[in-house]
This record gives sequence, structure tokens and C-alpha cells, in this order.
Amino acid sequence: MKKSLEISERESQLPDAVIGKILKIAVEDKSVISLGPGEPDFPVPKPVVNLIKKYANDSNHYSPPGGRTELKEALVKKLKKDNKIKAKPENIIVTCGSQEALMLVTACTLDVSEQIILPNPGFMGYLPTFELFNANPVFVQLKEEDSFEVNPDEVRKLIDKKKTKALLINSPANPTGNVIRKKVLEELADIARDYSIYIFSDEAYEKITYEGKKHHSIGSFNGMGDYVVTFQSFSKTYAMCGFRVGYAVGPEKLMKAMTKTHIYSTICSPTISQKVAAETLKISNKYVDRMVKEYARRRKLILKRLNELNLPAAKPYGAFYAFPNIKEYSKDSFKFANDLLVKGKVAGLPGTEFGRLGEGYMRFSYATDYKLIEQAMDRLEKFLKKY
Ligand SMILES: Cc1ncc(COP(=O)(O)O)c(C=O)c1O
Repeated sequence: MKKSLEISERESQLPDAVIGKILKIAVEDKSVISLGPGEPDFPVPKPVVNLIKKYANDSNHYSPPGGRTELKEALVKKLKKDNKIKAKPENIIVTCGSQEALMLVTACTLDVSEQIILPNPGFMGYLPTFELFNANPVFVQLKEEDSFEVNPDEVRKLIDKKKTKALLINSPANPTGNVIRKKVLEELADIARDYSIYIFSDEAYEKITYEGKKHHSIGSFNGMGDYVVTFQSFSKTYAMCGFRVGYAVGPEKLMKAMTKTHIYSTICSPTISQKVAAETLKISNKYVDRMVKEYARRRKLILKRLNELNLPAAKPYGAFYAFPNIKEYSKDSFKFANDLLVKGKVAGLPGTEFGRLGEGYMRFSYATDYKLIEQAMDRLEKFLKKY
């Protein structure tokens, strides 16, 4: 091929996520039970369906970049009530899911070679985003013996006073389900102040916690308004992944810069999604509670079965993933996932999909019907007997 028609080096170097291949097989081969996807299996709540109908004829125009006024005003109230974050509309940008907000914050804070510290294992969307912008990602290892909670002492060791610009945290976490304790968040806040670095706090799963575990927003801590960018989303809370509406909350100057960049990326989150989202914030909590209650039932089942199969998983107090240790059976999680898919007819994701330090683990999503999880565990049991 002529050089001028080649794909850019930047793109060519991006990792080819396994998830795409596994999910393709899982969707095409009807005999496979998939515990792969990271999205709720519930339909959107009934009142949301009515809102979609209400706005279907009246959403043909772009929305103001950065978000519609009624949505931003509703978010100001939500952030105060649910997260104790004091924000003005100027502190908020509405984006096409929180993933776009992550990309915008990268473009607007990290110059070439500047360092960002991120968790490993961690959500697969992070690393390629930082690499696309030629930033310098460094990893803080999350350890099973710490329930995969980030260790502030380890973070301190990684800080380069000249180059470190930001620390990314994710609680409740994908893929481990860890919920960071308040006292740990306080230590991380101290680090941000000591070294004057940003904290990017990914809270996409803020509403999905178990056994009374409380989610805390580090952006609500005293004096953290200048340091923290909080990322939240309608995707997981309301089973609205396909609506593409998320948002970031942070310092006004940074939100202004992100809004400028947003005009050149997607212009705006879909108008119908924003109109629906503004009113979705007012629907009864019972819809979200019902979903979380069902996740809790499935979580109990999957953890019990995995433990019985000698696949111990650190107890996940949030999100909807089990992240068991498979080292008793295999040292190669990619091979294990592939064998389980082909021979056992169960799709899960290898831990390496979430970074090199995810080796030796698998991620099973329990955003899947209870009965299917039961069947998948039966298949896993049969598969392991011969493995
Ligand atoms: C930890 C985490 N952050 C962010 C996202 C992106 O979500 P969205 O762009 O739909 O808001 C996901 C999606 O799976 C996720 O797991």
C-alpha cells in the first residue's frame, strides 16, 4: 500500500481489545453464555421510555456544547444531594458518556510525556486514551491482598514532582468491584494537595454498591474543588449506555477548555438523551434500587459458586463484576478465557484485558440473568474438572 494511505502510527499502536473478539463470538454463537459485557442487562426504567416518546418529535437540533441548561441545573442539585459536591453549572460539562469526558480531560490537561498515574488492573478504556495523546501513563498496582484498593503509599512513590500531572482513581471499580474507603480517599486528597496534581475520579458505578457500603466522592472533600474532576454517567445507574450521556464536574477553567475541545469532537451529547436525562434524575429511586437488589442476588450466587470451584474472588462491594483468581488452574488468563469460551461455552474476560497486572484473573460480569449465571457456573464446573 502507498505510504500516504497507511493508518497512522498512533492508531496502529493502540491495543486491539480482546473484548471485541470475545463478545463477537459470544453474540454469534448462540450456545455460549456470556458473562462478558460491562453493561446492565435491564431495559431502561419505564418512566424513561415515556420520556423518550415525549421528546421524540422535538430533538432534531444540536444542543449547546457542554450541555443543556435544564440538564446542568438538574445535575447541580443531584451532585449536592447525592455526592455532597458543590457545583455551579459552569463546573459541569455534559458529554457523550463519561468516556468522552475522559478523553477531553486528557486533551486539556496532559501535554506530551506528562505523567498520569492509573490503577492496574483497571478499566480498559483508560490506557489507550492517554496513549492517543502521547501522555506518559504509569501504573499503581492494585493487589488482591488489599481487596484491589489503591494504596496511597504506593502512589506517593510513583510521583515525579516535575512530570506527574494527575492521578486517576475508579470507585466502585471495574473490573474488581473495589470501593475505596473514605480514609483512603482522604489520604489521596492530601497527595493531590501536597504535589498539586489533579485527581480524576471515575464514579460511573456510584449507585451500584452492596451490603451498605457507602460510595464517597472525593470531589466533595474540603478544598478539593480545584484538584478533582469527577466523572459520572447515566449508563450504569439507569441502564442507559446507548443514550451516550455522561458528565464531568471540576474547576471552571478546565471545564471551559474541555467544552471548547468537545465542539471539535462530538459537538454535543444527543439532544434527546440530554432532555430525557434531565428528567430521569427526578424519577423514583425505586427503579435503580430494584436493579441493584437483583445484582446483589446474582453477586451472592456467583461469589459462592466461584469459591466452591476454587476460584476465590476478593469480595466486590460495588459495580457488577467478580474478579476471581484463576492461578490454581492457569497462569495464562488469555488462554484460559479462550479455552473456556471454545470448550466450556462460557464467555468471560481475561484479567490481562485490564492491564498486565491483571494476569492470573478473570472478569465475570453478573449483569446477566440469574438463571444464566447458574448455568454458566455449572458449565465452568464441568470445564474445570477436565482442565
Ligand atoms: C469504569 C468505567 N468508566 C467509564 C466507563 C464509560 O462509560 P460511559 O461512557 O458509558 O459513561 C465504563 C464503561 O464500561 C467503565 O466501566
